[in-house]
Amino acid sequence: MSGPVKIALVGMGWWGQKMLAVLQAAPDDIRVVRAVEPNIDTVRDLCAARGVALSADYADALNDPEVEAVVLATPHSMHTAQIAAAVAAGKHVFCEKPLALTKAEAERSVELCRAAGLVLGMGHERRFEPPVAEMLAMADAGTLGRIHQIEANFSHDKFLSLPRDNWRLKADQAPAGGMTATGIHLLDLSVRLLGAAESVLCICQQLSSDLPQGDTVAAFVKFKGGGTSYVSASLANPFMSRFTVYGAKGWIDIRDKAHVEAPDGWIVTSAMAGGPIITREIGKAEPVKDNLVAFARAVRGGAAYPVTSEHLVNNIALLEAVFRSASSGRIETVA
Ligand SMILES: NC(=O)c1ccc[n+]([C@@H]2O[C@H](COP(=O)([O-])OP(=O)(O)OC[C@H]3O[C@@H](n4cnc5c(N)ncnc54)[C@H](O)[C@@H]3O)[C@@H](O)[C@H]2O)c1
Repeated sequence: MSGPVKIALVGMGWWGQKMLAVLQAAPDDIRVVRAVEPNIDTVRDLCAARGVALSADYADALNDPEVEAVVLATPHSMHTAQIAAAVAAGKHVFCEKPLALTKAEAERSVELCRAAGLVLGMGHERRFEPPVAEMLAMADAGTLGRIHQIEANFSHDKFLSLPRDNWRLKADQAPAGGMTATGIHLLDLSVRLLGAAESVLCICQQLSSDLPQGDTVAAFVKFKGGGTSYVSASLANPFMSRFTVYGAKGWIDIRDKAHVEAPDGWIVTSAMAGGPIITREIGKAEPVKDNLVAFARAVRGGAAYPVTSEHLVNNIALLEAVFRSASSGRIETVA
């Protein structure tokens, strides 16, 4: 098949609407033909204006022969069952993060897609931020030398205004403060750079809000192949997004100037052994769109989608251990 991949956007809340908006700039790769949203009135006008068929029932997208792929932007606990249903209907899947809340569920989804020959995309758009992509390429080429340590923070205070019964604040959907909201992106980059994790100590506290799962989380991860990552996230301080990687031959610190909801470029500070510390500004980009385009091109048989099955499972295995440690207060082994 050729031409743009025809997709159904499933879950038209904050992020489903963000994806619909950015996909206007990718007409050669993706066409949104359907949307699914149980609270149908919230997006009726938007979908009508965009010429997108809208229904409340996921089965409508799965039964539509025009739909080649579903893009899931639904509450976390639904992802595993919705992926299984999509695979049974022969649809490729792009799933928002986290893929799952347990390693066993992640393995099941990865294996279902693999066995059916379907592409499984993942909402880890940080990999598509230009300075992050450049840093990953440098790490792969050995330019940074052996990676020793990672320090990363991704914080925002957008959830302080949510009703306290919102699914994003529930223990069965989003334990350990901001770990499933923002920290998961940093865990993904950590396993991408350092491989499978061995153990983790996670401390989650409620320091300056009434957010029921805590507002301030920090995880210290040890990797099987050596190296450590310190990942932290607050849901109660102003926006901050920073990823720093230290290697034997150089280090790079990447700061986002704005939340990926409305990207505004990056400030990158780096030094190579023997050289000066250099600070550069990188202009705006739209990594959410670029991630979806990479998925669509993989569906069409182009370059393989870069978030591999191994990365996906390693990340959720680590996430599950983070949850265990946040609740036990002890160092937990990663399964
Ligand atoms: N990649 C990113 O940077 C990023 C940013 C924000 C959110 N997300 C992810 O996007 C997903 C959605 O988060 P959100 O913030 O948009 O939440 P949200 O609550 O704003 O939107 C979720 C939507 O799913 C709908 N929904 C519920 N049950 C459904 C069902 N059975 N079928 C279809 N739709 C259903 C809800 O009515 C709601 O409109 C989560 O996985 C979240 O982690 C990713």
